[in-house]
Amino acid sequence: MLLELYSGVLRKRKLTPGLASLVALVAEAGCGLHWAAASVRDTVFLHKGENTLEVLLTAEQISRRVTELAAEIDAHFAGRRPHLVCILKGACVFLADLMRALTVESSLDFMGVSSYDGGSAASGEVRITKDLDHSLEGLDVLLVEDIVDTGLTLNYLRQMLLRRNPASLKVAALLDKPSRRVQPVVLDFVGFEVPDRFLVGYGLDFEQRYRHLPDLCLLPEAAA
Ligand code: PRP
Repeated sequence: MLLELYSGVLRKRKLTPGLASLVALVAEAGCGLHWAAASVRDTVFLHKGENTLEVLLTAEQISRRVTELAAEIDAHFAGRRPHLVCILKGACVFLADLMRALTVESSLDFMGVSSYDGGSAASGEVRITKDLDHSLEGLDVLLVEDIVDTGLTLNYLRQMLLRRNPASLKVAALLDKPSRRVQPVVLDFVGFEVPDRFLVGYGLDFEQRYRHLPDLCLLPEAAA
């Protein structure tokens, strides 16, 4: 089935499978721990342009986890209407899937933030490129992030949003990279813990590339 799935993906995207290296899905550890480090033996390889991207999490794995996260968020916000604040740009794909997986009604706003200066190095500088359109006063806010790395962006945003007097503020992050943490953060809903590698796909970019990929992939270390 996996072979068929990826044959389809490769055909559609005009990608070549290289050494026909279509292998198994990344293992999910037991006990509810979603650790995406997995092992290289359990990866799928795509060849796209000059970079060979290893798939860390398939679209199917992500979809399953997003459904689980939505159930947790539904339970937390039962009887209330969360106001989703999507942090652009990387979180837009996660946001779109999460919002549709929720059964509670939600409202939505976007904030543009840039913390990395073009490439992969965290500058520590958080820049607001687009502010929210609506007031947060009295709302149950759910901040939606794609990845938390150093924690600098999230802590900056949390403090800024709390000053706008929401009724509550929770954070949902699809990916957590705790090995890179500079500041401790509070994450209420987390999809996967990921290794200290540069990640692309499912909204995440490298120099604005690869956001469109349905899988979450590892950029070769030489390219990052
Ligand atoms: C990423 C991500 C977070 C931030 C996390 O955004 O979306 O906002 O970095 O990093 P930190 O924990 O080290 O602060 P990025 O600046 O890459 O912008 P993008 O979402 O527009 O790609």
